[in-house]
Amino acid sequence: MHYILVTGGAGFIGANFVLNWLSDLGADSIVNVDKLTYAGNLKSLASLEGNERHVFSQTDICDREALDQILAKYKPRAIVHFAAESHVDRSIHGPGEFIQTNIVGTFTLLEAVRAYWGTLEAADRDAFRFLHVSTDEVFGSLAAEDPQFSETTAYAPNSPYSASKAASDHLVRAYHHTYGLPVLTTNCSNNYGPYHFPEKLIPLVITNALAGKPLPVYGDGLNVRDWLYVGDHCAAIREVLARGRVGETYNVGGWNEKTNLDVVNTVCDLLDALRPKPKGSYRDQITFVKDRPGHDRRYAIDARKLERELGWKPAETFESGLRKTIEWYLDSQGWVQNVMSGEYRKWVATQYAV
Ligand code: NAD
Ligand code: DAU
Repeated sequence: MHYILVTGGAGFIGANFVLNWLSDLGADSIVNVDKLTYAGNLKSLASLEGNERHVFSQTDICDREALDQILAKYKPRAIVHFAAESHVDRSIHGPGEFIQTNIVGTFTLLEAVRAYWGTLEAADRDAFRFLHVSTDEVFGSLAAEDPQFSETTAYAPNSPYSASKAASDHLVRAYHHTYGLPVLTTNCSNNYGPYHFPEKLIPLVITNALAGKPLPVYGDGLNVRDWLYVGDHCAAIREVLARGRVGETYNVGGWNEKTNLDVVNTVCDLLDALRPKPKGSYRDQITFVKDRPGHDRRYAIDARKLERELGWKPAETFESGLRKTIEWYLDSQGWVQNVMSGEYRKWVATQYAV
């Protein structure tokens, strides 16, 4: 069997990527390395139980010895690196884990991969790829009239999360320039879709709305994000991995700039149509709350390079992607309840006890 190694494949985007990749019966097998933090959830991969093309390893990317063993055993032809602490609000409350995983973890992974890559035959060394999944947040905050972020926009991260991702991007870049490691970096905007942990805006609003709880909107609700359906992000990563130019960075975006209030209203309107309340609208539950400290005002992505060079563009509109997402949450209440109760951790310990 031929493998690629995915880190963070039990998280939101990673799990979508693993499921999407393995649905292609001609694609390589996956060794999925994930520490299973609170954000990692093997229930998202339940449909892969018994699938020989998926090997799961509960491993911390800061554990060099474990990484060396996995690389030597599975000899992957590529790495797709998703593993990270990913929630801005958590990085404000406690930045330590973000420094550890996003910076030290990426460094440790790069060191392990550099050593492994050095052992490969010339042709395999040339074909090898390290794809680093990053974020548009590294570029900082835009004013309403500013042009969108391009691949040449200067880095200006504002939160501990985005600063830690920026540091990891710089390390990846340095490993290419210094050691020749064949790297690719993608900087993507806000994803949404199935298996999204309900601490992030869209799944939080869906789950709170259905539970009759307030829908918290930070500040004036006019901060702007660009939204991309997770399946479109996975498709972009596959294109970049297959045909991206080594050493390049690619911005990935959905061409969907929306204020948070627009997003929350749209979720409410779709829920009103799909699961009407006995009385009133879900919009009645919207509550304005204290703003996030250092809250970036606007993110916007110019994704033309990816379209020009690799022909990628998003397939979903915001409305079609959001409808699919809400339908998934309505149909997946078991997954939601499990995540929210924290019960899934016990399930993992029982099922995967070594
Ligand atoms: P997530 O928080 O849902 O999942 C992260 C996964 O990484 C979890 O499964 C977790 O268990 C794992 N992990 C954390 N620390 C680890 C460690 N030390 N070792 C091994 N595994 C570890 O994150 P996500 O939303 O799926 O994001 C994935 C990647 O994409 C991240 O690098 C993030 O910065 C980036 N990104 C996310 C978005 C978005 O909107 N969610 C947008 C752009 C880029
Ligand atoms: O832009 C890409 C980034 O998108 C990724 O790098 C991050 O990993 C991902 O978490 C996401 O970051 P954001 O901070 O933009 O996502 P979040 O869902 O936390 O918030 C989206 C917007 O909604 C943001 O402006 C804050 C606001 N918000 C969020 C929450 C959780 C609210 O108004 N209320 C809330 O309760």
